[in-house]
Amino acid sequence: MSEPVVLGIESSCDETGVALVRGTTLLGDCLASSVDEHVRFGGVVPEVASRAHLEAIIPTIERACDDAGLTLADVDAVAVTAGPGLAGALMVGVSAAKAVAWALDKPLYGVNHLCAHVCADVLDHGPLPEPTMALLVSGGHTDLLIVRDIASDVTALGRTIDDAAGEAYDKVARVLGVPYPGGPHLDRLAQQGDPTAIRFPRGLTSARDMEKHRFDFSFSGLKTAVVRWVQERERDGLDVPLADVAASFSAAVADVLTRKAIDACEHHGIKDLQIGGGVTANTQLRTMAEERCAAAGISLRVPRIRLCTDNGAMVAALGAQVVARGLAPSSLDLGTDSSLPVSTVSV
Ligand code: KG4
Ligand code: ZN
Repeated sequence: MSEPVVLGIESSCDETGVALVRGTTLLGDCLASSVDEHVRFGGVVPEVASRAHLEAIIPTIERACDDAGLTLADVDAVAVTAGPGLAGALMVGVSAAKAVAWALDKPLYGVNHLCAHVCADVLDHGPLPEPTMALLVSGGHTDLLIVRDIASDVTALGRTIDDAAGEAYDKVARVLGVPYPGGPHLDRLAQQGDPTAIRFPRGLTSARDMEKHRFDFSFSGLKTAVVRWVQERERDGLDVPLADVAASFSAAVADVLTRKAIDACEHHGIKDLQIGGGVTANTQLRTMAEERCAAAGISLRVPRIRLCTDNGAMVAALGAQVVARGLAPSSLDLGTDSSLPVSTVSV
């Protein structure tokens, strides 16, 4: 018998994502984004995001089915992001998933958005080696995770103690007058700059910090250093070399992320590193991770860029893993949890 078809629904932030997955094969997916509606506010406005999800959810489900050449009647299980994320935005996806599961009389699985980011790569590179060290870098999270089983055993090893890496990107972008979301814009700018032009600080890497925070991150000091550097140039009447600032800032982020991830692998005797989340789309991070993992003898897995930022495919992929393990479905009175801990893979 062939593996079940899982419909995945993602609505935790500003992307409405729906996809169909069988095992580790992506059959079809569709993404609707409200990002353009948030640009003038310089960040995601929760009410605007919820309203956009509401308008997009049904057409996005239909388009994902069309893309797969399937109909809802072919769906064997429904997976949905239950958290973490924006409460109102999550509610739209969870309500839609419940309706579909109930109407089809198929099981419903509420899954963790962060674990789904880690799981996305099974669609590109097959089942995760176990254990795997995972570095999750998104707009709201920067975590190092030990993954012994992506469907049921994920442990947090370290996390940011202040800003997430993506958040630092978005805030630095605002100071530089670059539109939201900052990550992709700064990434493009950085391609024309010199990453060694300015030496920005590397958070929590001093010997003293490493004693207590070896596997934790901090990006707030870096953000402040960039702001201060730019303000001083402006005060002195000098122009600000945007590309060099972007490249040097990105280099500082990528340096700390890769250094700590490799240290974590070595410390725990884990030979595989998986990276995921929106910031994984970053060019410097991808290049630096490849070079440093190769030098350290660590095998690196990074998904294609479309699977790094929020999407429905990652949710369907994690749903398929949970189904394959025979874990219990969620109840139809499943709620949302905007601060769902990463160790709760499904609810
Ligand atoms: O995972 P994601 O799509 O949403 C969350 O779950 O947060 O991550 C969004 C974050 C944003 O902060 C965005 O600026 C950042 O990922 N990002 C990037 C790039 N593309 C997206 N950061 C750096 N370089 C990129 N190319
Ligand atoms: Zn995300």
